[in-house]
Amino acid sequence: MRASSVPAPPTRRLLAAAGSTAYRRLARPALWRLDAERAHHATLVAADLLGRVAPTRALVAATGYAVPPARPVDLLGLRFDHRIGLAAGMDKDGRAVPTWVALGLGHVELGTVTARAQPGNPRPRMVRLPESAAVINRMGFNNEGVHALARRLRDARRAGLVRIPVGVSIGKSKVTPVEEAVPDYLASVAALDGLADYLAVNVSSPNTPGLRSLQDAEPLRALLTAVVRAAGDVPVLVKLAPDLTRSALEEAVGVGLDAGVAGFVATNTTLARGGVAPGEMALANGQTGGLSGAPLTVRAREVVGQVRSLTDLPLIGVGGVMTGADAAALVDAGADLVQLYTGLVYAGPALVAEAVAATIGDARWG
Ligand SMILES: Cc1cc2nc3c(=O)[nH]c(=O)nc-3n(C[C@H](O)[C@H](O)[C@H](O)COP(=O)(O)O)c2cc1C
Repeated sequence: MRASSVPAPPTRRLLAAAGSTAYRRLARPALWRLDAERAHHATLVAADLLGRVAPTRALVAATGYAVPPARPVDLLGLRFDHRIGLAAGMDKDGRAVPTWVALGLGHVELGTVTARAQPGNPRPRMVRLPESAAVINRMGFNNEGVHALARRLRDARRAGLVRIPVGVSIGKSKVTPVEEAVPDYLASVAALDGLADYLAVNVSSPNTPGLRSLQDAEPLRALLTAVVRAAGDVPVLVKLAPDLTRSALEEAVGVGLDAGVAGFVATNTTLARGGVAPGEMALANGQTGGLSGAPLTVRAREVVGQVRSLTDLPLIGVGGVMTGADAAALVDAGADLVQLYTGLVYAGPALVAEAVAATIGDARWG
């Protein structure tokens, strides 16, 4: 949608309010009749189909969610229309980039992909905690492998459908021992040559055995140095866990700086279960995996603040952004960009416009 065809703020507010009600009253109850993973799959299939041809893309853009280029943010050598993007894990295989663009997102992080295709953990592996506005997942990097993603991204770029920065999150294949992680990550870097606007090195998923040990100083140094060198001009970010102690976080950031990373992403899901509603605590304690959504809001903000106190490099804040105010608070804590995931599950796509409005600081878009 072009800026000139965008409705005035009052109309846009009405459209966003109507869209948000429609999502909560119609789409969400329908999706939530399915278990969490099927609902996610149905969303992706719909997003993929809607993105395939121009008329349905225009329909998506016309929902009133689409946010026009407003106040660009220059970061990582890239231009972002605004601060709000899609977090890794929503579109692991890069199936629906044109739809994310049409929805008004300012950037997308695809993946996490691994060098080899892999099925992930046994199902069920994703659980909603509705009272807590949260999700627990132990997906385990189910993905079709980096080559399938590279093919889709190449096709979308050739078709001129990628008008926003697209990062790709890379992780370790489960079959690869953690001591052999470096060549495994480098295979993904090579396969993405010329396709990713930035790379996010995922060493913080709790769902691949041993992965988080790559946040320790020496393995992290070896991994990041190798990835930065192999990536050439492509900026490399590292995504951190919210469960690091202050000193472990300082160490990881210091290693990242030494290795020449371009920035940081904070945070991934948490192993903690604080902030879960009392009525869902037993369920939450019985589930392994990473917790996301409202219980993570405060901790993610804290970690973003801590990373910002250690470096001026670009910082993507993610974790528990359920409202526009949460997005603005992450920016206040030091994030340059903000990503959404679980908030979209609960609030629907209208959250994009709400978060953009809250982080633009320009009344025209409010
Ligand atoms: C179902 C699910 C799958 C995820 N998969 C990935 C992933 O593959 N790679 C990654 O870096 N983060 C992944 N994440 C973490 C999100 O990108 C994000 O860091 C985290 O959920 C916190 O944000 P949120 O509270 O807004 O969801 C996943 C999250 C969920 C809920």
